[in-house]
Amino acid sequence: MSYCRHRHNIRIFKLPSILVILALLPRNVNSAICTKTSSCSCTYADGSFIDLSPLDAEGGVPSFQDILDSKRIDMFSWNPCSSFNEFACTDAAACQIRPLTPAFEYYTIGTQDTATFQDMNGTLVLTYSAERASVLRTLKINLTCDPKEVGILYVEGETTKAVYWMELRSKYACPTMAPTPLPSCIKTSECSCSFDDGRVVDLSPLDTGGMAVGVPRFKDVIDKTFTSWYSWNPCNGFSEGTCDDVAVCQISPIVPNPTNYVSLGNQNSAEFTTVNGTLTLQYAVSTDVLKVTKILLTCDEGTEGELLAYGLKENNGIQEYLLELRSMYSCPREKPGPVQFCIQTSLCSCDYGNGTSINLSPLDSKSSIPRFQDILSPNKREWFSWNPCGPFTEGDCQSVAVCKAGPIVPNPDYINLGYQNSASFQTAFDGGLSLNYHDPNSSRYDKIF
Ligand SMILES: *[C@@H]1O[C@H](CO)[C@@H](O)[C@H](O)[C@H]1NC(C)=O
Ligand SMILES: *[C@@H]1O[C@H](CO)[C@@H](O)[C@H](O)[C@H]1NC(C)=O
Ligand SMILES: *[C@@H]1O[C@H](CO)[C@@H](O)[C@H](O)[C@H]1NC(C)=O
Ligand SMILES: *[C@@H]1O[C@H](CO)[C@@H](O)[C@H](O)[C@H]1NC(C)=O
Ligand SMILES: *[C@@H]1O[C@H](CO)[C@@H](O)[C@H](O)[C@H]1NC(C)=O
Repeated sequence: MSYCRHRHNIRIFKLPSILVILALLPRNVNSAICTKTSSCSCTYADGSFIDLSPLDAEGGVPSFQDILDSKRIDMFSWNPCSSFNEFACTDAAACQIRPLTPAFEYYTIGTQDTATFQDMNGTLVLTYSAERASVLRTLKINLTCDPKEVGILYVEGETTKAVYWMELRSKYACPTMAPTPLPSCIKTSECSCSFDDGRVVDLSPLDTGGMAVGVPRFKDVIDKTFTSWYSWNPCNGFSEGTCDDVAVCQISPIVPNPTNYVSLGNQNSAEFTTVNGTLTLQYAVSTDVLKVTKILLTCDEGTEGELLAYGLKENNGIQEYLLELRSMYSCPREKPGPVQFCIQTSLCSCDYGNGTSINLSPLDSKSSIPRFQDILSPNKREWFSWNPCGPFTEGDCQSVAVCKAGPIVPNPDYINLGYQNSASFQTAFDGGLSLNYHDPNSSRYDKIF
């Protein structure tokens, strides 16, 4: 804390101007009582607190030493939390040094155990006392909040007999709110949880379930140490290699042997916890050792979903894997109102039951030529055709609803992506409506939004 001493000696000579400025500064109007929690900290009723311990010098020395008073006669030392010794001042919180000849005199003017926090017309005052030879000395230190200063001590000195005044200007004299701990989020499904205040975190928009059953949303993400790959699907289980119906799979290349797939837990082990103040989804699996995978859910409104893998850490015999999901779906949200389902009424219409219905038949070509024909895909290698209600035929696609053509020109492959009788309307979690067709040759669904 030697920087403090040095600064005070310089600041002393600037004090008159500082005082003028102080008079103009708005006073701390927090008149609530600050309840003592230690000799150098107190807490207000609203939970905010003042803690001077960063200004404390440990090891029996004061952090503010031999500072001249306003009359330039006496010197004073003070340490906010722990006691110090300075010649005849022993176990002191504050010491007065009177430079007499032939020897200086030292008076303890306060001890740590007498510290009290008082409010004086809006000023928080830290008061100490000490008695010696039946003289009771009292020290009052105004604690003035100044966010720009680490700590400056102005010593007014002995104002009336045995009563001393100082002023500390410091950012540590500003009432500070403790960071509110993240409330716990109660699991409502494998991939969603609900806070006390009604807000929810729901990762289901990231899940692949239904669209491509059994495939992980995040596949083969390499960790920062380039040791393993990780795959994860937030809600539904998936399979990869020998990982069967898992939530997380670790993939390690064991040269020259084939790739090793290790399950890091299935969906029903999912738990929501808080790690370092961040909401975390964790999975566990116990084989010969307990493996715990923690996925930090970092709120990032700018990203739909990005998975980062930090890899493995041994911890007291537990293998701990750390991943991080940065996603807009990690942000707590107001729970959406109940989703209105659109009940299917024909192959190309549905009804919300509230007076609104969806009917695609005006879009239908009402012929064997699809209404939407040979629409080029973004990769410019495939063409898609769709007719909303009636069947159409194109190449090898016979009486279908959706057909894919490509990628070989001029003789493309035609693949049936679904007949009209597989049409189903689905309402997503966020209320989005999709019309889905079932590929007759696989479990794949094709969504048309
Ligand atoms: C507090 O304010 C009142 C009214 O302004 C005044 O009478 C009193 O002396 C003040 N007390 C202190 C300690 O400044
Ligand atoms: C401390 O605060 C009191 C009450 O506001 C005020 O009367 C006094 O002048 C202040 N003393 C110093 C040294 O700032
Ligand atoms: C939590 O924070 C501590 C200290 O910053 C750090 O050492 C630890 O690795 C963090 N844990 C996780 C899971 O991020
Ligand atoms: C009926 O519900 C749907 C879906 O929530 C909504 O888009 C539509 O505006 C509602 N219609 C009426 C008349 O409220
Ligand atoms: C299903 O796949 C087989 C062989 O892959 C193919 O011969 C058949 O035409 C396909 N059926 C449909 C309806 O696409």
